[in-house]
Amino acid sequence: MADNSTPLGFDTLCIHGGHTPENNRAHLTPIYASSTYTFDSAEQSIDIFKGDEKGYIYGRCGNPTIAEAEEKIALLEAYGINDASGSTLQLKAILHGSGMGAISTMLHSNVSMGQKIISHFSLYGGTYELVEKVFPGLGVEPVIMDFHDPNKVEDAIKADKQISLMYIETPANPTLQCLDLEALSSLGKKYGITVCVDNTFATPYLQQPFKYDVDYVMHSTTKFLNGHGTAVGGVLLGKDIDKMNSSITKMHRLLGGNSNAFEAFLLTNGLRTFGLRMGRHCSNAEKVAGYLAQHSGVAEVNYLGLPNHPDIATARKQMKHAGAMLSFELKGGFDAAVKFINHLKMCTNAISLGTCDTLVSHPASTTHVGVSREHRLQFGITDGLIRMSVGLENADDILNDLEQAIK
Ligand SMILES: Cc1ncc(COP(=O)(O)O)c(C=O)c1O
Repeated sequence: MADNSTPLGFDTLCIHGGHTPENNRAHLTPIYASSTYTFDSAEQSIDIFKGDEKGYIYGRCGNPTIAEAEEKIALLEAYGINDASGSTLQLKAILHGSGMGAISTMLHSNVSMGQKIISHFSLYGGTYELVEKVFPGLGVEPVIMDFHDPNKVEDAIKADKQISLMYIETPANPTLQCLDLEALSSLGKKYGITVCVDNTFATPYLQQPFKYDVDYVMHSTTKFLNGHGTAVGGVLLGKDIDKMNSSITKMHRLLGGNSNAFEAFLLTNGLRTFGLRMGRHCSNAEKVAGYLAQHSGVAEVNYLGLPNHPDIATARKQMKHAGAMLSFELKGGFDAAVKFINHLKMCTNAISLGTCDTLVSHPASTTHVGVSREHRLQFGITDGLIRMSVGLENADDILNDLEQAIK
C-alpha cells in the first residue's frame, strides 16, 4: 500500500474512499437502520447541535452509511483537481433520495423570487418541468435557449440582470448535445452567476465540471454511480464548504429530501466497481454506435464519439471518452421505433440508464412526456428517437439483438 503522501488512484478510491472502520469490525459499513442517535450527556447534545462536536443526530440529517457514499462521491468528483492554493480540491456531497431531490435543494438554496434561471434546450424532462412549470410559480422565470454559442449566452445574460443561475446538463438527455463547460463557467464567473452542472450522463469517470470552477454538480446516483439499478438516489456537490455545511444543509433537511441507509449501502457497494464498469460501458457503446451508424435501416445516430457529431470537439476537450449513452432514429420514425422496441429479446425496454444491462427507451412517450411536442421537436427529441444506455454484456450479444430487432 502506498504511504499517505501518495494520492490513491481512481479505482482505489472507488473501493476504499470514504470508508471508516466501525466499532464491531464489520468489513463493509453496515446499514444503520436507526432513526435517531443517542448522546452521552446534555452537554454533548448541545455541542453536536451547535456543530462544535461531530456526531449524528437524526436520520433525516445523515448517518454513517450515508456518509460513506457522500465522501466516496466527493473524492471521485474532485479526483486530481487542485484548488487555487495548489491543494487537492475539497468538496462536500449531500446524498438525497433522488436526483430530482438534489436538483431541488440546489435550486431552492440559490434562487428566489424575481431572479431567473438561464438554461438550454434538451434538459432531462423532470428538470425541464421543474424549471419551466414549478419555479415560475415561486416567481423565478426560466430563460431557455441554445447554449452552443457562448456569445449568444453572454448577450442574453447582459440583456437581463435578473439572471442569477446557469443550469447546464452535458451531455444532455437524450440528444447527447455537449456544451462547453469552460466557456459557460467563465461567463458565470464574469457576471457573478451561480453555475451548476448535471453530470449524470458523463459521471466523474469521464468529466469533472469542478475543473472549470463551476459552483455545484448534481447526479442522479440511480444511474452509473449505483450501476446495478438497485436504488434511486441523487447527490449535490459543492466546493464552498461553509455554505454547503450551513444554508445548503439546512435546505436539504427542511425540504426532507434525504436518502436512507439501505439505498446508500447499495450505492456504496455499486461504486466499488464504478471505474471498472465505466471502461466496459464505454467500449461497448463505441461498438454499438459504429454498428448503428453504418446500418441501412438507421436514419441518424447521436453519439459523441462519431466524427459527424456536431459537438465532438467539445466532447474531446472535456470528456475522457464519448461515454455509454447514445440515441438514434430508425428510417420509418415512430412506427419503426415501436416495432424495434417490441422485437428486442435481450436489451431491456425500461427508462433509467447506467445499469449493467442494456436499456432502451422511447423518450417522447416516457421521460419527456411532460414536455410539449413543439418544445420536444425544437430540442431534437423527435417522435421516433430511441435512447440507449449501453450495458456490460458481451458486445456481440448486444449487436445481435439489435440486428434481429431492426430486421
Ligand atoms: C440527466 C438526469 N438528471 C436528473 C435525473 C433525475 O434523477 P432521479 O430519477 O434519480 O430523480 C435524471 C433521471 O433520469 C436524469 O437522466
